[in-house]
Amino acid sequence: MSNRMNMRCRTLVFRNSDENFEDGLAIAADIISKGGTVAFPTETVYGLGADALNADAVHKIFKAKGRPADNPLIVHIANIHQCIELAEEIPADAMKLMEKFWPGPLTLILKAKDVVPDVTTGGLYTVGLRMPDNPVALELIRRSDTPIAAPSANTSGSPSPTTADHVIHDLDGKIDAILDGGPTQIGLESTVVDMTDKIPTILRPGQVSVEDIKECVGDVRIGYRDRTLEEGEVARSPGMKYTHYSPKTKVILIEGNIKDVHKAMTEIVSDCHREGERVGLFVTEETAKIVNADEIYSLGKREVPSQAARSIFMGLRHLDSTNIDLIIVDGTLNKEGIGAAVFNRLRKAADRIINA
Ligand code: TXA
Ligand code: MG
Repeated sequence: MSNRMNMRCRTLVFRNSDENFEDGLAIAADIISKGGTVAFPTETVYGLGADALNADAVHKIFKAKGRPADNPLIVHIANIHQCIELAEEIPADAMKLMEKFWPGPLTLILKAKDVVPDVTTGGLYTVGLRMPDNPVALELIRRSDTPIAAPSANTSGSPSPTTADHVIHDLDGKIDAILDGGPTQIGLESTVVDMTDKIPTILRPGQVSVEDIKECVGDVRIGYRDRTLEEGEVARSPGMKYTHYSPKTKVILIEGNIKDVHKAMTEIVSDCHREGERVGLFVTEETAKIVNADEIYSLGKREVPSQAARSIFMGLRHLDSTNIDLIIVDGTLNKEGIGAAVFNRLRKAADRIINA
């Protein structure tokens, strides 16, 4: 008996390259309807989903991820009607943003209706809503016939998953099923905007940029920091309190002008080698031509931060799996547009930031 209780359940994996993926989708939707957990692709990262209106089901997400109970989940919907069922009111600016960016990588925080259980909102009076731009995600929500609460499908604190294999690595045996829809296109999580005040507040940067939001609704406030909050600081979004995206290997991010960054990077690599330590570089193509180390993973071209967005979590996970003592990240990448979101994640992942 106790043996059976200790046994981990088997996680079903359905790959979109398989002929019977349609059947997999139907099984996955059935699992959600019956209160189980399913990881699925979105355009940003993989999510770990459960029926957002079923408190017992949502508890399973927190358990599988090891997520702090006060960190609320984003509720994923497939049509505007579901939004009306979940949100107490939809301000005009929120409506404008939905029309412009949904389906897409934008989460809107709105006042929640009572149907949304406390476990989903982390006990807040608000709920985060998002319509993902991914056919598998949308089909899963439609077939389950319920909104799906889903945080990123990683172990709490580790880099977000951008492939089904990342999800398997973190959660195999802890969740009921995984839908593999291939690698995600954007690579980092949605922009989160609090719409409960007159002026929208951006709580997490993403592909939908501050400029995009300003252009749509006018004035916005920046409510996020590029580092984890210290004790005693008040978090606008519970997620800000917690360590994020940390590989096991120590991470140093070097920012500054290009020449100084290269110089500092070269010095740290030599210092480590003198100590017999192995170093991994997570650098732009341009930097890789100038600095060398034991492992290298590309952030893509310096002026094209969307490439870095796509490789950031993949790169951190890959470098972490190699036998190195330190990861050095290249802060010469362009910080505009999605670059701001990339730096937000890189700074949070870093144990130390050097301004060269
Ligand atoms: O792209 C994404 O947003 C992915 C995919 C799966 O949709 N999801 C995701 O979820 O990144 P998660 O749980 O890893 O991050 C959600 C963030 C957390 O920082 C959380 O604190 C914040 O959104 N959040 C959720 N609901 C909130 C609310 N009601 N008020 C303030 N912050 C909220
Ligand atoms: Mg997450």
